[in-house]
Amino acid sequence: MRVIRSLVRMQKLAAAFKREKKRIVLVPTMGALHEGHLALVRRARKLGDIVVVSIFVNPSQFAVGEDLERYPRNPATDKRLLKREGVDILFTPEADAIYPDDFDTYVVPGEIATRLEGAFRPTHFRGVATVVLKLFNLVQPDIAIFGCKDLQQTVVIRRMVADLNLPIRIVEIPTTRDRDGLALSSRNSYLSKQGRKRARAIPAALLAAQEKIASGERSATKIRSLIKRRLLGVVAEVDYVSVAERHTLTELKEISGEVAISLACRIDGVRLIDNIILKVN
Ligand code: PAJ
Repeated sequence: MRVIRSLVRMQKLAAAFKREKKRIVLVPTMGALHEGHLALVRRARKLGDIVVVSIFVNPSQFAVGEDLERYPRNPATDKRLLKREGVDILFTPEADAIYPDDFDTYVVPGEIATRLEGAFRPTHFRGVATVVLKLFNLVQPDIAIFGCKDLQQTVVIRRMVADLNLPIRIVEIPTTRDRDGLALSSRNSYLSKQGRKRARAIPAALLAAQEKIASGERSATKIRSLIKRRLLGVVAEVDYVSVAERHTLTELKEISGEVAISLACRIDGVRLIDNIILKVN
């Protein structure tokens, strides 16, 4: 596995792979890798000739007061894990190379980035879209892989790829969960032992909603209230509960078709997000 820090080197390597007609697959990450990230990497290995994993804790997607400084970083472990998965290139650019002092151009996603996560983190998706487009330009992937764990992020990226005519296929991978159902996340490491136990309420609430829908409930309002009720008293604060069409994330009145149920809440001041995707007749 080659470890590349230089932007110019990455771009030159990508150009060489392109000339050799190699299929490049990119898995963008912020590191502190867990089994969820590795599921993406394994799919990449199956799909591509050249697997590139980027690790870059992207300052522009964190607002002031968010967890940029304390975001977990485990470079040695990450490298070992990626080597074991047969990754070809680990791309770890420096922040001042990605954002030099005179950097002044951003990708600003539209309406989709103003709702749900965007309502609570107004500049978040601008940062995500900007860095992802930069990574696409540096790595020149044919395919890029993202997790359903961050469902709105995948919707924003797909929109950008379509709107800006990028010749890249976006592949989505289902959420990897811990044994008790909690979605794996680098941010779970912020939770206290008690908080980690309370976090079980999140997948439990989503499961309860899924069961209620399976038994015939079709009112989105009722499902939103059910989830809020289940979380009440267990998590400190619920930012939102959404029952929406899976591809556009527009809120539903009546549950039918491909439906995404997503939520964001805080436990011990730690902000966690989760979702499930259902097909409902
Ligand atoms: P990060 O949070 O490190 O996640 C990298 C990728 O792993 C994302 O596509 C995310 O959806 C996926 N992922 C995280 N937890 C997962 C889980 N439990 N199961 C399956 N996939 C999971 O998302 C980002 O980084 C950044 O915003 C990034 C796209 C790299 C841009 O900076």
